[in-house]
Amino acid sequence: MEQQKRYGHFDDQHREYVITDPKTPWPWINYLGNEDFFSLISNTAGGYSFYKDAKFRRITRYRYNNIPMDNGGRYFYIKEGDTVWNPGWKPCKTPLDFYECRHGMGYTRITGRKNGVEASVLFFVPLGKWAEVQKLTLTNQSSDVKTLKLFSFEEWCLWNAATDMENFQRNFSTGEVEVEVPNLAISTSNNSSKIEAPTPDVSNSSKIEAPTPDVSNSSKIEAPTPDVSTSGATIYHKTEYRERRNHYAFYHVNAEIQGYDTNRETFVGLYNELSEPEAVLEGRPRNSHAHGWSPIASHYIEVTLQPGESKDFVFLLGYIENEQDEKFSAPQVINKQKAYALIESLNTTEKVDKAFAELNQYWDKLLNIYKVKTGNDKLDRMVNIWNQYQCMVTFNFSRSASFFESGIGRGMGFRDSNQDLVGFVHQIPSRARQRIIDIASTQFPDGGCYHQYQPLTKRGNNDIGGGFNDDPCWLIFGTVAYLKETGDFSILDEMVPFDNQPGSEVTLFEHLKISMDHVIKNLGPHMLPLIGRADWNDCLNLNCFSWDPNESFQTTENVSEGTKAESLMIAGLFVVTGKEYVALCKELAKRTENLELKTERCDYSQDGEQSTTGNHTSQFSTLSSQFSAEAARMQQAVDAMIEAVKKHGWDGEWYLRAYDFYGRKIGSNECDEAKIFIESQGWCTMAEIGAEDGMVAKSLDSCKKYLECEHGMVLNNPAFTKYIYEYGEISSYPEGYKENAGIFCHNNPWVIIGECLAGRGNDAWAHYAKILPSYVEEKYQTLHKVEPYVNCQMVAGKDAFKPGEGKNSWLTGTAAWMWLTVSQHILGIKPEYDGLRIDPCLPSTAGDYTVQRKFRDAQYTITIHPNGAQKGVKQIVLDGSAIDGTVIPYSPGEHTVEVTM
Ligand code: BGC
Ligand code: NOJ
Repeated sequence: MEQQKRYGHFDDQHREYVITDPKTPWPWINYLGNEDFFSLISNTAGGYSFYKDAKFRRITRYRYNNIPMDNGGRYFYIKEGDTVWNPGWKPCKTPLDFYECRHGMGYTRITGRKNGVEASVLFFVPLGKWAEVQKLTLTNQSSDVKTLKLFSFEEWCLWNAATDMENFQRNFSTGEVEVEVPNLAISTSNNSSKIEAPTPDVSNSSKIEAPTPDVSNSSKIEAPTPDVSTSGATIYHKTEYRERRNHYAFYHVNAEIQGYDTNRETFVGLYNELSEPEAVLEGRPRNSHAHGWSPIASHYIEVTLQPGESKDFVFLLGYIENEQDEKFSAPQVINKQKAYALIESLNTTEKVDKAFAELNQYWDKLLNIYKVKTGNDKLDRMVNIWNQYQCMVTFNFSRSASFFESGIGRGMGFRDSNQDLVGFVHQIPSRARQRIIDIASTQFPDGGCYHQYQPLTKRGNNDIGGGFNDDPCWLIFGTVAYLKETGDFSILDEMVPFDNQPGSEVTLFEHLKISMDHVIKNLGPHMLPLIGRADWNDCLNLNCFSWDPNESFQTTENVSEGTKAESLMIAGLFVVTGKEYVALCKELAKRTENLELKTERCDYSQDGEQSTTGNHTSQFSTLSSQFSAEAARMQQAVDAMIEAVKKHGWDGEWYLRAYDFYGRKIGSNECDEAKIFIESQGWCTMAEIGAEDGMVAKSLDSCKKYLECEHGMVLNNPAFTKYIYEYGEISSYPEGYKENAGIFCHNNPWVIIGECLAGRGNDAWAHYAKILPSYVEEKYQTLHKVEPYVNCQMVAGKDAFKPGEGKNSWLTGTAAWMWLTVSQHILGIKPEYDGLRIDPCLPSTAGDYTVQRKFRDAQYTITIHPNGAQKGVKQIVLDGSAIDGTVIPYSPGEHTVEVTM
């Protein structure tokens, strides 16, 4: 095994991961922003920002898969004499005397030291603001007076991140900026475009002269900055603002500057790299104005620091939208009122510190909802900090923007988003609620779904279309999780359209119903669900049949109508979600019945008269019996599916994966390769299909025997070594990677939950710890390559060239599934309609632990005494009295719970 170097460590007290070597095996990133304005930031300050949509409102430019990797970001250049360095090491890569990057909850702090000067930058997006704050603190730690030249740097993206990368015949002519530097009396806009800033006097750069505004046309000159609060210097990016765009961006610093640049070529030099910008190397800005080409924003500040002295500079990268009729303050001059207000709110250290404290409190609150203390730091830090944090990030971004997803390719996935919200719903239920409605609004009237939708428009994505037959079930999965967390049944009455068509609205409950029916109406020859284009495994394309390398596996259906190939994964998913649906219908029947009783009581009390009672009760009892009937109808379908799986989906030692177009078994001992797949083992064991016949136990044993390896369970075994035309993309991958026998961290939890339901706590824990980032971090920082504080989608499997190497970190359904697994099944605190179910499944070595759970308007302190048991609650004492069963009935207020296993 190669020597595993360490690049960082956890700091649990501050909820941070501390990176101590900038040369991480891959950029280790963090996310800033919670709702509208977002940034990705690497440990060397690389990355980019966008407003809401990573494709259509990209604010700063980024080049993916660059040489060197991760080049481009928000950079500060510090020049002292002939030495130029950056606090985050890149891009100059000047060796630092000290380097540290602390990724925290919604912020990143990067600190560098060189020759007695410390530069520490705190990056975050304040709550409710459309801006990234970069608070730079320069400290002179030496005993000499320090004279420094400071340059900031951001490169603007021309809004649409896709065309920004490709349409240069246009792009190179559209770029426009405005600059406001009140203290230098430089106030130029597009209108002074013909004046190029004079080259500053090198011999005396502190006295740079401002370009003279065009007095001959003073009506077009922008008014001087109105008030002191906006003093400082601002560079505005306003490409295309003249026509349809109502938005611009700006980069501000709250200090006097002695120069600036806005034209990339002038600042960097056409043949220079970002590590050697000409302006920086020469220590002299050009006061350049971008007209087309590539606009950037760079401030130049001269800083003198006495020994021990420290100075703060607040840089602000902001985004503004104006009403159509308020776009301009003068012809072609952008209306900056909103920018001034935004700047005003964050232009001092005090204001920034306050906003930062608010962000920290926000996370305190979110992370207080579920908190565990087991004494095992590796478990506690994942549960209390990083897993929950990753769930929020994944909820926010779906699969759009990471260092593996360019942000321009994919919209929000129907199944992805339903899973993401399950990991997030306890944090901010109202946002999960809205997400459910948005997702359901893209459903088709027959229950099928657009596979993806665009976050900005919330419309289904026509390019990819529908036909992924697992999609409908996930809506039930997501909605039920919301209902159990909140008890807010009103969501079921929300009127939700089909395909976003006004007038097509039905209740959300109706959407759930047609989701179930979509499966029932699309059964194949073995009465198992038809797979369509694919199920959860996007790469098992059993109706595709493609030899054309220019076709997409996911959207090609060129031979069959999809009436033959069947999926055992969907079968298991249908049984799991079907049982939930049945339980929901019964719950609704019970609730409407209770309503009926309440109405009766209330009607009788009104002067002894019984006026409308008859109507109410009959209405409710009809409703109630309708729900009961619906429960019975679906129970039958679920039972039939269970029978079909037992009859046609069992291979002797494990569940089959699928039937192909020709009716041949996939994932069977009869196959040459890929004899066993993980997805059907996960879902059919979670569905407990055939548990009574020993199927569940055998399936779980087979996962251990055939799928498990050092780094987790592979997706299939053995890997495919050749392309199988009728299987699609899955067999196109090299052995051990991605859907061909890679370790999908996403589906390992399915088997782990299967283990938990079966009460096999030792096995569940062994599988869980293998993919738990904090355990991997301890052993494999180099091999694992990607961030050690979050899960990645895929780790190379045992058949790969480099088993254990991780890829596709951050944005993966793994986050939500890891959360479900540990919070509900291992630690065993599971929301139900009426309360919290306590039913842990633990390794026999587990000691006592305490969970603090805020649930609706109640706060529970739950202490579990496992006594060596893996499963099985013997007694629950709630506020001093023993209760029956394993569900603590919900009631507002504070409660103490003692659980003996
Ligand atoms: C990847 C899948 C992904 C799919 C859809 C495939 O190439 O392997 O993981 O879900 O594309 O984008
Ligand atoms: C990534 C996709 O986002 C997800 O929906 C899919 O299930 C997995 N890939 C597995 O193919």
